Amino acid sequence: MSSTKRIILVTGANTGIGYDTALFLARDDSNNHVIVGARNEERGLEALKKLQDLNLKGTLSFQKLDVTSDESIFAAVKELEAKFDKLDVLVNNAGIVIPEPLTRAAMRETFEVNVYGPVILTDALAPLLKKSNDPRIINVSSGLGSIGLRLDATNQYYNSTSNAYRMSKAALNMASANMKYDYRENKFKVWSYCPGFVITDLKMGGAERGEASRKTRSEMGAESSETSAQGILDIVNGKRDGEVDLFVQRYGKTWPW
Ligand SMILES: NC(=O)c1ccc[n+]([C@@H]2O[C@H](COP(=O)([O-])OP(=O)(O)OC[C@H]3O[C@@H](n4cnc5c(N)ncnc54)[C@H](OP(=O)(O)O)[C@@H]3O)[C@@H](O)[C@H]2O)c1
Repeated sequence: MSSTKRIILVTGANTGIGYDTALFLARDDSNNHVIVGARNEERGLEALKKLQDLNLKGTLSFQKLDVTSDESIFAAVKELEAKFDKLDVLVNNAGIVIPEPLTRAAMRETFEVNVYGPVILTDALAPLLKKSNDPRIINVSSGLGSIGLRLDATNQYYNSTSNAYRMSKAALNMASANMKYDYRENKFKVWSYCPGFVITDLKMGGAERGEASRKTRSEMGAESSETSAQGILDIVNGKRDGEVDLFVQRYGKTWPW
């Protein structure tokens, strides 16, 4: 594809924040080409069709991508390299929550998706990102990953547990800092971004992932995941460029690392 377009890959874009992000980016600018990443082909193609049916200004395509599998990551990167001559924006959005008990298996599974996946994918995509004039990486983190906030009893999420998730997002924040360092000579801009407490399928406490978690989130006052997508759009469009070394959230706010 001609490199005059801004090429953007969003992982975990078949639902939730990833889906809304793909929607906002494709709706915003006819120059945007959004690649809808999803681990499940059926769910991914269904999301792609839903987006294409909206006749948005930008263009869209699908990429099968399971961030826990190196085989899937390397196959996807190969396909992307064949289709595109650069990548301008990578949104590492795919993520999971596994609540307590804090078993080795739960921690391992959480880190596979939330940490190892984005790190290995970013590394594999770096050659394509280096071909962009303005490479941007957005790592979708969480305020629950802030070490600075963990012992702040005034924070509204002080009593939230999900410690495997908290640790994984703290590790992802360090990965963001490492990416800034590793690609400093290539002028990569990297953000850790907290999308806020929003209504998605993401597992919430004892509720099953999906509709039950949406209901619990809604009852607890979570906002629409479109607000998260707007925050990502702002970053892509350069509105948070002055905060590239900070841990940013929506509405122009930041969290302590
Ligand atoms: N919702 C919130 O309040 C909130 C708050 C802070 C941070 N976040 C973060 O926001 C991001 C998006 O979460 P969400 O709330 O939109 O949750 P969601 O609705 O559950 O969506 C998660 C997405 O990640 C995908 N995914 C899971 N494992 C994957 C894998 N191995 N490879 C590729 N994709 C995978 C899911 O695909 P399937 O549908 O196929 O499972 C889905 O597309 C996550 O990183 C989450 O930690 C969310």
